[in-house]
Amino acid sequence: MSENDNRIIAGKAKQEDSPELSLRPKRLSEMIGQARVKDNLQILIEAARKREESVDHILFYGPPGLGKTTLAHVVANEMNVNIKVTAGPAIERQGDLAAILTNLRAGDVLFVDEIHRLGRVLEEVLYPAMEDFALDIVIGKGPSARSIRLKLPHFTVIGATTRLALMTAPLRARFGALFRLDYYDFESMEAIVLRAAELLKVEVDGDGVSEIANRARATPRVALRLLRRVRDYAQVRADGFITGNVANDALGLLDVDKIGLDEIDRRMLTAIIKKFSGGPVGLDTIAASISEESDTIMDVYEPYLLQLGFLERTSRGRIASRAAYDHLGLAYPEEIQKNLL
Ligand SMILES: Nc1ncnc2c1ncn2[C@@H]1O[C@H](COP(=O)(O)OP(=O)(O)O)[C@@H](O)[C@H]1O
Ligand SMILES: [Mg+2]
Repeated sequence: MSENDNRIIAGKAKQEDSPELSLRPKRLSEMIGQARVKDNLQILIEAARKREESVDHILFYGPPGLGKTTLAHVVANEMNVNIKVTAGPAIERQGDLAAILTNLRAGDVLFVDEIHRLGRVLEEVLYPAMEDFALDIVIGKGPSARSIRLKLPHFTVIGATTRLALMTAPLRARFGALFRLDYYDFESMEAIVLRAAELLKVEVDGDGVSEIANRARATPRVALRLLRRVRDYAQVRADGFITGNVANDALGLLDVDKIGLDEIDRRMLTAIIKKFSGGPVGLDTIAASISEESDTIMDVYEPYLLQLGFLERTSRGRIASRAAYDHLGLAYPEEIQKNLL
């Protein structure tokens, strides 16, 4: 049986694109970087296996593209159990969730992506399911309605979210293990590019690898995307071989700068600096001024700019730091410098 036979896509969960799927590490040992998370997972998995129990419920959180979905599949693989995949926004009614839960077999992993978007009513269904492996269902309507409790097999919920803060405290408390995924260091990024290049049979030299790793926002998903675009460029313009120069030219053409910022990052920083004198300015105002969704900015763009130290988040809004001015080649205003003294 192929691995995919084990997966159902419940509700309207988005279908994962297949090129990514084929590049996904299947085992913990294939995962690059995230040493602390891997060590902890190893222990969790081995202990559960020794006791012949299901693994405790696990929550992965952190910016998009760092490996949350991959890790959920890796855990299921390592435990040798089925994984059912769904997502917060895909489950609309209590009945949908009840159907998913009653179809689980002992040990199964239920992966709930974007779990912060699960409605409150659905959370209420999940609490007893996670805690007592029980499902309360109401039969009938009005005065004759009664509630019965169904027993569920022991299973594991793996949740993933880019917004831990939007998760309710009671839901968070149902998870026995919480792991924050961090941006990858440069060595890990190089290893990820190299691994993908080998799997995709792309010819690349060391400089090519570094160039792509450097500009991938410390994010595996971005690295894989850039590698594919650079490969296209190399095939059309450079006999398919990726050198540092080829990668540099290709990424330049894509408007990805030396540190991985793209046009939207730069528009955002420029807007804060030029339209709002460097801030503080609210996220919604920034979003409106560059015609982007606040959610996209908050999930995708802002975390990396914060990580770089280009942005600061204060109670009054976002402030562009000196590093942002320098990167954009803009003069840092003297008034701000004086105020800081
Ligand atoms: N540690 C890693 N080592 C190798 N590849 C990785 C790693 N983490 C993520 N990837 C790759 O990056 C892509 C994005 O990861 P994914 O799990 O979908 O991120 P998330 O769910 O956090 O948005 C995957 O296709 C996977 O191949
Ligand atoms: Mg994901």
